[in-house]
Amino acid sequence: MSLYLFILGRNWRASIAEIACFLQRKKYLGNIRNFSKNSALIEFKERVSDDQIVRLQELLGGTQKVAEVWGEIETDLVTRAFPFYKRAFKDIKKNRVEFETALKQHLVKLIPSQGQKLMFAVSVYPGEFSKPEANLQFLYPYLNNLIHSFLKENRIKNTFFKYPTRALQDGSINPIWPHNVRNYELTTSPNSELIFSFIDEHCHVCRTIAVDDPNLLKKIDEERPCPGFEFSTPPKLAKMQVNFTNIEHGQIFLDPFCGSGTHLMITALRGISFFGADIAPQMILKSCKNVEWLIRDQKLPEVPVHERFTCSDVKELSKHFSPASIHAIATEPYLGPALKQNLVKEKVIRLIQDELLPLYLTAFRTFWQLLVPDGRVSIITPVFHASDGSRIEVEISRQVREIGFKEVNLFPDHVFIKKSTLHDQLKPFFQKPGQKVSRRLNCFIKK
Ligand SMILES: C[S@@+](CC[C@H](N)C(=O)[O-])C[C@H]1O[C@@H](n2cnc3c(N)ncnc32)[C@H](O)[C@@H]1O
Repeated sequence: MSLYLFILGRNWRASIAEIACFLQRKKYLGNIRNFSKNSALIEFKERVSDDQIVRLQELLGGTQKVAEVWGEIETDLVTRAFPFYKRAFKDIKKNRVEFETALKQHLVKLIPSQGQKLMFAVSVYPGEFSKPEANLQFLYPYLNNLIHSFLKENRIKNTFFKYPTRALQDGSINPIWPHNVRNYELTTSPNSELIFSFIDEHCHVCRTIAVDDPNLLKKIDEERPCPGFEFSTPPKLAKMQVNFTNIEHGQIFLDPFCGSGTHLMITALRGISFFGADIAPQMILKSCKNVEWLIRDQKLPEVPVHERFTCSDVKELSKHFSPASIHAIATEPYLGPALKQNLVKEKVIRLIQDELLPLYLTAFRTFWQLLVPDGRVSIITPVFHASDGSRIEVEISRQVREIGFKEVNLFPDHVFIKKSTLHDQLKPFFQKPGQKVSRRLNCFIKK
């Protein structure tokens, strides 16, 4: 058994669902021991190598960093050593000595076998950024100085990542972003990023093994020749959706509402055979140009991209594909018109009844014909925020089951070792700040 800490993305619920999906695959069998809104503690059943962790991080869309766990310190001790309120200096000092003793046992792992020079950085992840367990203003500089002196005592020359003094003073300090971990080569030994992550009663002391490369997905989002604007799917979300389908090399993928082609670009990057369809000819053109650009830009093997697209209404798609010829579908269908303000409840209900539900159910009837048995559909449905403050979802589960699908539980009980304090909040939603409609992640499997 080996223990790792996964640093979650902003949409932490979706990140956890994605990790849970991988933990059910043969190669990464494991469980979630506990989690906060920022990190999840994962135990793999078998030993995993650093290379496997790096590969897993590359595959994941919703994880920022993966770190090996060195040990833990009681949260209560860290809180007492770095309190928010004034306390007797004598007490604080005593607690800090206790904290240092606990920490130094783990720091020995930082000492390289030969006396090389190294750079280290410290990142602290509270359970929730708005409610840190300890006073980070004091904890960060203390940790930097402590680790620096510890290494010096052990005759290791070292430098550390220095936070702007202003950020330290006004408390706006953040953990280091993945791109900085990359820039400073902190995952390359003997350099290190040390993560201190609070999950309930423990503060986990970890060393980062792999970090996300945000640049590629950012490039897909911002530099593709034909952007989809407000209707396109965020590349991170498309990546997570593709993962929920469990698609493998040699299998066939379809996005029947391909729009500007985000899901198709994700599958093209993985070397998976993809097909895209859309009712709008201009979207087919955009999607095609985007995929061609990606193939050129990333120097991927050439494929006859034009042949991979079909302009068709989803209900006519079975005229273009043989029955049971598709292994996986990941898609974001039409979610309703772009909204400048929240709709009144009655309008939302009418939109769902008259347009969205009939479209989605028609699509599922087609999907049933196209998919192989056990083929999966990962599909977004909208959650509307009505003007009276209510949230209205499009309920598809029952009718989709009647068509012949089984719903996949994205948070299956058997993956979690215990019910966490946040367990009731595990709902498969993906939200971007300021959006009038949030997205619900759904996954179904053809029976
Ligand atoms: C939300 S957008 C898809 C966004 C896409 N994932 C992207 O990243 O750009 C939905 C797409 O569904 C297409 N669409 C709407 N109704 C359709 C139908 N009945 N059959 C096929 N495509 C349809 C629209 O033209 C639009 O491009």
